[in-house]
Amino acid sequence: MKKSPLFLFLILLLQVSYAGNIPKPLYKDSKAPVESRVKDLVSRMNLEEKILQLNQYIFGENDNVNNIGETVKTMPSGIGSLIFFGSDPAVRNQIQKYAMEKSRLGIPILFGNDVIHGFRTVYPISIGQACSWNPDLVSKACTMAAKETKLSGIDWTFSPMIDVARDARWGRVSEGYGEDPYANAVFGVASVKGYQGNKLSDPYSIAACLKHYVGYGESEGGRDYHYSDISRQSLWETYMVPYEACVKAGAATLMSAFNDISGVPASANHYTLTEILKKRWKHDGFVVSDWDAVSQLINQGVAADRKEAALKAFKAGVEMDMKDNVYLENLPTLLAEKKITMAEIDEAVGRILRVKFRLGLFDHPYTPVVAESERYLQPESKAIAGKLAAESMVLLKNNGKTLPLSSSVKQIALIGPMINDKINILGSWAHHGKIENVETISEGLRSEFGNSCVLNYAKGCDLEGNDESGFDEAVAVAQKSDVVIVCLGEKREWSGENASRSTLALPAIQEKLVQTLKNTGKPVVLILSNGRPLELVRLEPLADAIVEIWQPGIAGGSALAGILSGRINPSGRLPITFPLTTGQIPIYYNMRQSSRPGLGIYQDIPTEPLYWFGYGLSYTTFSYGTPKLSATKIKKTEKLIAEVEVNNTGLVSGAETVFWYISDPACSISRPMKELKYFEKKEIASGAKTVYRFEINPMRDLSYTDANGKRFLEAGDYYVIVNNQRVKFKIEE
Ligand code: GLC
Repeated sequence: MKKSPLFLFLILLLQVSYAGNIPKPLYKDSKAPVESRVKDLVSRMNLEEKILQLNQYIFGENDNVNNIGETVKTMPSGIGSLIFFGSDPAVRNQIQKYAMEKSRLGIPILFGNDVIHGFRTVYPISIGQACSWNPDLVSKACTMAAKETKLSGIDWTFSPMIDVARDARWGRVSEGYGEDPYANAVFGVASVKGYQGNKLSDPYSIAACLKHYVGYGESEGGRDYHYSDISRQSLWETYMVPYEACVKAGAATLMSAFNDISGVPASANHYTLTEILKKRWKHDGFVVSDWDAVSQLINQGVAADRKEAALKAFKAGVEMDMKDNVYLENLPTLLAEKKITMAEIDEAVGRILRVKFRLGLFDHPYTPVVAESERYLQPESKAIAGKLAAESMVLLKNNGKTLPLSSSVKQIALIGPMINDKINILGSWAHHGKIENVETISEGLRSEFGNSCVLNYAKGCDLEGNDESGFDEAVAVAQKSDVVIVCLGEKREWSGENASRSTLALPAIQEKLVQTLKNTGKPVVLILSNGRPLELVRLEPLADAIVEIWQPGIAGGSALAGILSGRINPSGRLPITFPLTTGQIPIYYNMRQSSRPGLGIYQDIPTEPLYWFGYGLSYTTFSYGTPKLSATKIKKTEKLIAEVEVNNTGLVSGAETVFWYISDPACSISRPMKELKYFEKKEIASGAKTVYRFEINPMRDLSYTDANGKRFLEAGDYYVIVNNQRVKFKIEE
């Protein structure tokens, strides 16, 4: 029977009005509390959908040569996360649309990537950033990086890396904030706040990922991925400190590490991943494994096969499996065999969904597509890059005030393999940086000195090899100049992941070039661009001045030029000790006293490092008054104020970082000779003075941890140490 148009219209009207009245599932209600949305969604999911959320694939050409990864050919619409190697938000949106429309419940994908020290605006490598002792500036850089990242279609960065590192043979020392637990905690928290902003759902906030949880910096012999023998005491007094601080600062996720922790791999370690992280610290986000770290449990000798690897990692508390498909393949069987429970799966899925809801991915799954010119290299980002590059640089030597270059200098010889470098100067993990955005050292010096001096250039040699054919030209350039600026360094692949080196020395060809230039009798200013502390025992005597610029990112050229001209007064201080020779490793400031101080040292080399943690020079001089304490004895519950006056006794303004240490020479557990507990950087005008103040909270600043992570505070004598001055006080019961 033919239906009249009116009838059909009425049917349509009925359908439309009915459809408008179907209640939206709770999980799609943006006004509903996150926990209710999580619970509702999990209750609707089938097993396959749940397990897909626990997996992360990759999309795009993997640019990490250390991770052999296939380009995903087919991608289930319900996949939980993708490492997105691209930067085009339209591509991300296309993938997200596929997930939202083709998956039964429309669960958005979480797009992640390694944004370690900037995205297109590349900042200094993290070890360099730590030299700034300016956590606010580091936080601002992370905020800028988060905006560029979010606008590129990525919601989640695998950063900050907060692995305390004391063996510079380990290449990843470049990615963290040095040898001190407290410094890694402060810069880690600054990064988390910079990335995550006030709320994860803010338009340019991205989720942070603390890595690599935990103890990765202890890799034996500095050999990446190797065994890490970490006692519970070391775990708590050193490696857990930055993680606890950053979890309490609200870091959304963590990444479980490749390393072993004294026989129990970090990615199968129930103690760290669940007992501490989830139960004691109450972390309610999730843990993603490092690349293949689940299947690598087989290599580490704790899993006979992939199924056992899945069981071990999942039961330990790794919610998401990065790239190796072990969860996808095995969790259904493990559930069927009752080795894991649906409740455990629901808990893991819920943690991942909670971060997605908090990020606002269900309500705003797509990235606004704006032109690259609006996305990247904005004036504010570039200004921060310049400031952070300048504050990351450390003046290590300045004999006879070689620097800043005097106005009598009219001819500058700019020599060395780094003078025109646009790649290595970016450092590792800078895959979104573009060389056309890099200002080279020679470009920086040309803009700074071009009108007042003649710049003479020579490469001299390559970063490695034994080709000395460029030496003659370098000598000729040096001979006609008033000063020699020689720029040496490391290739960016000599540090970072899987970049362990048996010596911290630069290749001999570079040292030979400096010796040759020294023989000309000209003043030599040595510029170092590297990703780790270097062995400078042979180079240091040859240089009249040394500036450590690390891998300063896109704005290193003008920052260095500003330091050489005196426009910028260097303020960097080292967050990691520079050994005199590689043989001194491990050597770090917060060591424990030996049982026979002064004995048991190496017979064949000096005991002192070349530069201690905290070292760095300025163009001005600072004099410290005697530190004063508000009391000589306090109860455990009372506060103690420590103050010290600092005068700028030089002729130019300068920024001074005051490091406040404590010492507890007699404790039921032996402690490091001194421990950094606070630092503060202030600009002081020439001739001015200012008071630095440290308000000591005994439980926070004087307590120690036992092997279970329980902090305790004992009565007795303590010292505040500032500028190598020790002031004694007593804690009473
Ligand atoms: C790498 C690194 C880790 C990185 C991950 C994803 O192997 O260990 O730092 O975040 O894989 O690229």
